Amino acid sequence: MDSIALYGPSFWASQRFELPPRTLAVVIDVLRATSTIVTALSNGVQRISPVATVEKAFSIRDHSPSVKLVGEKGGVRIEGFDFGNSPQEFLGRPLFDFELAMFTTNGTKAFLATKSAQEVIAASFLNLDVVIEKVSHWNGPVAYFCAGTGVDFSLEDGILAGAIIDSVDPDHPLASLYRFTKNNLPKAFRSSKNGTNLVKIGLESDIDLCLQRNRFSVLPYFDSTQGLIDLSVKSNKKENP
Ligand code: MLT
Repeated sequence: MDSIALYGPSFWASQRFELPPRTLAVVIDVLRATSTIVTALSNGVQRISPVATVEKAFSIRDHSPSVKLVGEKGGVRIEGFDFGNSPQEFLGRPLFDFELAMFTTNGTKAFLATKSAQEVIAASFLNLDVVIEKVSHWNGPVAYFCAGTGVDFSLEDGILAGAIIDSVDPDHPLASLYRFTKNNLPKAFRSSKNGTNLVKIGLESDIDLCLQRNRFSVLPYFDSTQGLIDLSVKSNKKENP
């Protein structure tokens, strides 16, 4: 299997970058966008529009007042938004029929960068086994869109990519990274740039939630034509791999 690692924004935001045909894109922002997406969709949210700017989120709500806004800057909820980017905010509350527009520093932009992929899914530790199941049955290249922190590679995204790749391509360097860190993930995550920030702003418990394996069994798909993430299978090229 061809595993293509896009380690951070300098890879996936590059205009020169082109995906090969029949690529499955796996978007990873463990701390915290993809963990929040998996949690929200598991708890009744119907669909999520990932957006590239805060202004776009507000304009979606201006047109559709029932849409709730989710997101962060510097890890903290944006003023005027209904939710921050904490998966904990989506646990234990009635969310049926909610539609969300979501802006996060890197994660939502990583989804928007997947345009030429045939299918796009969201990965987290919270839904790890369903992601591995999808990847291991995919007949084509798989590109891992690691959201990163700022412009940099982030350790936690590389580790999750490695946890997925380890089951299909164990010689890949990210699979080694995962095996090297897997017995000490809470410490590794807290030492990452994003993890250090979450501890600093009082959201350390998000790290432990995002590290829970297989708490949910949903597989979110992103439809780049409609700009929506939900739980129905979407092929952007309308053909089988
Ligand atoms: C991001 O999109 O960069 C992250 O999800 C940031 C965060 O939630 O702290």
